[in-house]
Amino acid sequence: MTRRPLDAVLYEPAGAGRKRRAANRRALQAARTNGRRSEQDQPQSDPLTAGAPRTSAPYSANRRLPLLVDPHRATTRVLRVAYPFLAEGGLGSDGTYIGSDVFSGGSFVYDPWVLYQARVITNPNLLLAGVIGSGKSSTAKALITRSIALGHKAYVPCDPKGEWSSVSEAFGGAAIKLGPGLPTRLNPLDAGTRPSAVPVGEWQRVVRSRRRALLGTLAESTLGRPLSAIEHTCLDLSLDSVTTSAEPTIPDVVVALFEPDADRAAAVGTSVRILTTEGREVSHAIRRMVHGDLAGMFDGPSTTQFDASLPMVTLDSSWIGAGGNDLALRLTLACASSWMEAAVSDPAGGQRFIVYDEGWRVMRDPALLRRMQEQWKLSRAWGVANVLIVHRLSDLAAVGDLGSEARALAEGLLADCSTRIMLRQEPDQLARTATLLGLTDVEIATIAKLPKGRALWRLPNRSFVVQLVRHAREAELFDTDARM
Ligand SMILES: Nc1ncnc2c1ncn2[C@@H]1O[C@H](COP(=O)(O)OP(=O)(O)OP(=O)(O)O)[C@@H](O)[C@H]1O
Ligand SMILES: [Mg+2]
Repeated sequence: MTRRPLDAVLYEPAGAGRKRRAANRRALQAARTNGRRSEQDQPQSDPLTAGAPRTSAPYSANRRLPLLVDPHRATTRVLRVAYPFLAEGGLGSDGTYIGSDVFSGGSFVYDPWVLYQARVITNPNLLLAGVIGSGKSSTAKALITRSIALGHKAYVPCDPKGEWSSVSEAFGGAAIKLGPGLPTRLNPLDAGTRPSAVPVGEWQRVVRSRRRALLGTLAESTLGRPLSAIEHTCLDLSLDSVTTSAEPTIPDVVVALFEPDADRAAAVGTSVRILTTEGREVSHAIRRMVHGDLAGMFDGPSTTQFDASLPMVTLDSSWIGAGGNDLALRLTLACASSWMEAAVSDPAGGQRFIVYDEGWRVMRDPALLRRMQEQWKLSRAWGVANVLIVHRLSDLAAVGDLGSEARALAEGLLADCSTRIMLRQEPDQLARTATLLGLTDVEIATIAKLPKGRALWRLPNRSFVVQLVRHAREAELFDTDARM
C-alpha cells in the first residue's frame, strides 16, 4: 500500500473532488485495518519492551487521530520524545475532587469504592505517610469531608491529638471525648443494634466472638505476650458467665475471672483452684480497665450511643496517652474500635472510612495489629476503607524484629493498602520507601522534595503527583498550626 502524507488524510484540501475524497477514505480505512492486523500480530511477551504499552499509544487511545505509523512498542524514554504533549488521563471524574494533577494540570478525583469497582485497585484501604507537618491529616480530612457529599461516612477511632473533633462537628457529626475524669463512658461489650438481615442466633455468635476478641486483645496488650491455653480458657469461661446478663460490662468479667464458676470449670475438666492460680495474671490485666489508669472510661454501661446515621463519629483520645503512655492509648483504641465495630459490621451501613490518625503510635502491639489486620481483610465485605496515617514506612518495620509476628502483620497492612499516598519523606527514608513500594528513580526524586500538601498518589501500576487544593474555609478548619 502506498502511504499518503498525514495532513492529506487529516485535512481534505479545499476544493478537492469526489475522487480525491473517496481516495482519502480508502487510505484511512486501509490504515485502520493495517493497525488492527498488526495489533493481532503482536508477540505476547517481549522481554526487551516489557511494561511498554501493547500498541502505539496515540493510535489505540484515540482512534479519531489516524496517525499513519505502524503500531509499535517502545519504552517511555523513547515515547516521551516521539509523542510529546500527551498526558495521563487521570482516574476519571467519578469521585471526590482532591486537587490538581501536577503533571497534566487536570483535576485529580479519587473514590476508593469507584476505583475498586473499576478494578483499578484491589482493595479500598489507604496508607498515608509523610514527615511531620507535611499535610497528611489535611489530605485525609479533605478526602473524607468532601466524600460526605457523596453519601460516604467516616469513623475516627484513633485521634490522639483530638484534631478531628472540630472537623466532625462542622459537618454535623459527633465527637466523643474520652479521658480520665471526663463524663463519657463507653461499654466495649455493648452488643450494638442487630442488623435486620442478620438472624438472632448468628448475631449472638458475632457479638460473643467480638467480645471474646476484645478481652483477648486487652489481656495480651497489657501483659505484652501471647496468652497461654489455660488463660484463654479463663477468658472463655468468664465471658460465658457474664453473657447471661442483658448488658454485661468489664467489671462483671473481672469478678468472673477472680471468682470462676465451679460448674463451668468442671465442665471443661478443670477446677476453680487451677483457674484462679493459672488465670491470675490475665485477671489482673483486665482489672486494669476497671481500677487502673483507665478507670471510669470503659467500666460501666455506655453513657452515649453510637449513632451510625451521622456522617462522622470521632473519638478524641487526646486526654489519654499524654506523656507517651502508648499502652493506655492502645487499650483505648481496642475498646473504642470494638464499640464501633457493631455499627461498622452492618452490611447495610453504607460506604465508610475508618481513620487511624497517628497510626504509628498504636502499631507497636501485635495484639492490636492482629485486630487491625482482621478489619483490613474484612474491608471489602463491610464496605469499609481503612485509612492508616504514619510518618514513614519504617514505622511499620519498627514494630518488631525481622521475622517477628508484629513485623509480618505490619507489613501485611501495607500490602493490603492498594492506595499509598506519599508526602515528603526524609532523605534517609527514601531507599526503604522505594524498596517497599517499588518506586522508580523519578518517583523517589519527586517525594524527596514535595512541598506541603503535595503527594505522590501511588495506585497499582499508576502514580500521580497531586497538589491538594483547599477552600479557605477548609484551610481554617484543618489548621493544626494555630499554636505555632
Ligand atoms: N496544601 C496545603 N497548603 C498549605 N498549607 C497546608 C496544606 N496542607 C496542609 N497545610 C497546613 O500544614 C499544617 C500541617 O498539616 P497537617 O496537620 O495536615 O500535617 P500532618 O502531616 O498531619 O502533621 P503531623 O505529622 O504533625 O500530624 C496545617 O496547619 C495545615 O493547615
Ligand atoms: Mg497529622
